Amino acid sequence: MTTPPPHIEFQDVTISYGKEIALRDISLTIPEQTIFSIIGPANAGKTTFLKSINRTLEFEPNAKTKGTILVHGTDISRIKNVYSLRRRIGMVFPLPVGLPLSVYENVAYAPRRAGIHDRQELDELIERCLKQSMLWDEVKDRLNLLGTKLSGGQQQRLTIARALSHKPEILCLDEFSIAIDPVTTMKIEDVLLELKKEMTIILVTNLVQQARRLADHTAFFNKSKMIEVGPTEKIFSNPEQQLTHDYVTGDFG
Ligand SMILES: Nc1ncnc2c1ncn2[C@@H]1O[C@H](COP(=O)(O)OP(=O)(O)O)[C@@H](O)[C@H]1O
Ligand SMILES: [Mg+2]
Repeated sequence: MTTPPPHIEFQDVTISYGKEIALRDISLTIPEQTIFSIIGPANAGKTTFLKSINRTLEFEPNAKTKGTILVHGTDISRIKNVYSLRRRIGMVFPLPVGLPLSVYENVAYAPRRAGIHDRQELDELIERCLKQSMLWDEVKDRLNLLGTKLSGGQQQRLTIARALSHKPEILCLDEFSIAIDPVTTMKIEDVLLELKKEMTIILVTNLVQQARRLADHTAFFNKSKMIEVGPTEKIFSNPEQQLTHDYVTGDFG
């Protein structure tokens, strides 16, 4: 068996906000076309990890990164056109942040800004993204409806459709199921397993069983440190660290 080349690599990455260290000495690799999940309690540094990959951490004036983050072997701090990097990486946040626009325009927003104005091309792209996020059947007859009028679960899938509209090679999801019901969560989980064939997925999840169901590899973060990383089955059934064991079995104080 050959190991696929790493899509993302962290080399001794330490991130701080002012004096506070949010992530300490993180080294890991994420292979292409896999689901990599990060589990861990609040304030472990999970969201900071995601924001470092597309360099949106730069919006935080006091954030400082040490170490190297590579995407396809390129040190991302050396990428001059940060927008080109951000387009390659889709982000989905915990609470749907639908733009006050129609369903159609929510998904068309990024492609239009990237210069796609041909109506047929946009129509096709929007249909593809809404199908990929398993929302199409529920909205195809009302694409002009305001996105904010959809249910919470539908809005979450709309944000996934938006994230897909610039054909990202990496899709990051931050606790996407926090505000949606279990049935919708399952639907989106199916979506992610399909999308994995085309992109690398980083899934920060508050549901450890979700990581177990979906992820090829899982990392456990706690108090700014990566306690353990490995194949998901190993993390759940035979972890090296007692802390990991306690967390995945729910015995965590
Ligand atoms: N913009 C910020 N300014 C200062 N501290 C922050 C900021 N964002 C996060 N932090 C701190 O960094 C640590 C990690 O936060 P975060 O990455 O959001 O963790 P998680 O997503 O695991 O809850 C926390 O202690 C948090 O308070
Ligand atoms: Mg977070």
